[in-house]
Amino acid sequence: MVLIDPYGRKVTGLRISVTSRCNLRCIYCHHEGEVTGGEISREMAVNVVNAASRLGIRSVKITGGEPLMRSDLEEMIAGFKEVAPGVEISITTNGVYLKDRAEGLAAAGLSRVNISLDSLDPDMYRRITGAGGGDLERVLDGIEAAQLSGLRPVKLNMVVLRENEREIPEMIEFSRKRGVILQLIELLGDGPKGDLERVERLLESEAEMVLTREMHRRRKYFLNGAVVEIVRPMDNTEFCAHCNRLRVTSDGRLKPCLLRNDNLLEIKSTDPDEIERLILEAVKRRAPFFDGNANAGR
Ligand code: 5AD
Ligand code: SF4
Repeated sequence: MVLIDPYGRKVTGLRISVTSRCNLRCIYCHHEGEVTGGEISREMAVNVVNAASRLGIRSVKITGGEPLMRSDLEEMIAGFKEVAPGVEISITTNGVYLKDRAEGLAAAGLSRVNISLDSLDPDMYRRITGAGGGDLERVLDGIEAAQLSGLRPVKLNMVVLRENEREIPEMIEFSRKRGVILQLIELLGDGPKGDLERVERLLESEAEMVLTREMHRRRKYFLNGAVVEIVRPMDNTEFCAHCNRLRVTSDGRLKPCLLRNDNLLEIKSTDPDEIERLILEAVKRRAPFFDGNANAGR
């Protein structure tokens, strides 16, 4: 079975925010479009994955805040695998706590990981990750641990800002050497954006091969052993046209759209049948945020 929304978009993925807590304060953080705190219970998260997989969901992405703030993440992943063995589980993390947990996460059933890394310069990294600042060295150790634990692919998320865009060539070189994929992400919301269009043109001329993937119009460039993807959410209507995932907020609500906060559905019951019904209702509420003229729909 495959879920299809009123706009003909298949819904094949679930994106669960398991906490709104984070150990960093990145200057650009959009907090996954969430407005409230709270934390979904492990049991509830497992029930949602169970119901979603019965409805045809094939992948689950775990996000935050910072998912590793939860000490029960390994158990949660094992729980997902128990009720939905065929579902592919990935995580987006800032990587600071990854070194000591990568192995356990992989053993629990985690397949792949995205690690936020906006700079290879310790001072710049500390600045971008905000008050308190992150320790770059720990993230680099986390990347290595993820690879050694067999998590694949490892992708680095770099949000392109004015202050880090000059580091892109160095980041590409780093990714090539380490055998990880570099994702260059357009800044969502207000702030000092880098010029991704220029980067795109450069990659276009230098890459020996370019692939375009459906989801959010991602482009993949192959350059002499390096793999670089570009994610430009604000680019045009295509972002919404190919959106194939449903979100679950950290306080346990189904969120049909990243960019809208007026159509969420609270999951109150732990009854899988009731959760299935709610998922179907959330899918019905999915509507593209951007209209045909690349303007925000609301
Ligand atoms: N714009 C683009 N991407 C963002 N992320 C967080 N905030 C923003 C934003 N304003 C992405 C980063 C990070 C992941 C958790 O979410 O890529 O790696
Ligand atoms: Fe936001 Fe992620 Fe940075 Fe935490 S690590 S502040 S969740 S972007």
